[in-house]
Amino acid sequence: MTVYLNGKFMPIEEAYIPVLDRGFIFGDGVYEVIPVYSRCVFRLAEHLKRLQHSLDGIRLKNPHSDHEWAQRIAELIERNAEEDQYLYLHITRGVAKRDHAFPGPAVQPTVFMMSNPLLTPSNTLLESGVGAVSAVDNRWLRCDIKAIALLPNVLLRQMAIDHGCAETILIRDDAFMTEGAASNIFVVKNGVLLAPPKDHLMLPGITYDVVLEIAATQGIPCEVRRIAKGEIFTADELLLTSSTKEVLAITTLDNKPVGEGLPGNMFARLYKHYQDYKRDVMRKA
Ligand SMILES: Cc1ncc(COP(=O)(O)O)c(C=O)c1O
Repeated sequence: MTVYLNGKFMPIEEAYIPVLDRGFIFGDGVYEVIPVYSRCVFRLAEHLKRLQHSLDGIRLKNPHSDHEWAQRIAELIERNAEEDQYLYLHITRGVAKRDHAFPGPAVQPTVFMMSNPLLTPSNTLLESGVGAVSAVDNRWLRCDIKAIALLPNVLLRQMAIDHGCAETILIRDDAFMTEGAASNIFVVKNGVLLAPPKDHLMLPGITYDVVLEIAATQGIPCEVRRIAKGEIFTADELLLTSSTKEVLAITTLDNKPVGEGLPGNMFARLYKHYQDYKRDVMRKA
């Protein structure tokens, strides 16, 4: 596996960072995950825009222009064997003596990229759907920043795994649903697709946007609004979306069936159109 670290491509075994890297010490950095299908990057401009938003959110200067990112990403894809890859981009505030305050003067940020094989959900999972549990959203108030400090998300996702499930659906203030531990969540009720609004309490998912665009072009009734806690427990369908999971049905919540307990019509429609959209984008690339 060839990775990129601070301007150089190298085998992963040779990629090291100093222990005083602020990413290691403070979790002081941001990241992106970008899917690549048949060696074509999916929605690069949107991912780079979100990366810029995350960097602005932590007051870190973008080390590269979009053109420089695109060149480096193209080379990383080229240097790795798989046709379908998922790229991980990671930028930290760099290496400095341990002090919470930003280093002054600023130091070089650490830039790391790697590629892994993209394994989208198996047919079995697509047909059965996955289980989810619900939990209190105990994260900070800037969930719109794709921060590398993921300990709350790690603990919340592990809660699902410990219950034999795939995802944890997060409830803020005992009142409304925000997202999953590592995905966005959609609710379906009476044929309407409900999506929480993009604000500081959830990550603005790239897949989330694609799903809403598909809903608009397919004339699927859609409401973007706060989703009350009670609505997830009475949903006809629940869907999760992310770059690596794409669109997946959640068929149990807290051990009880969601709707009929099987992936529903809305899932089938959105999944099909998502696959069509991907093929379309790749044909144009
Ligand atoms: C907390 C969280 N929300 C939502 C998402 C989905 O975002 P995207 O569709 O851009 O992958 C992710 C992706 O990993 C995530 O970690």
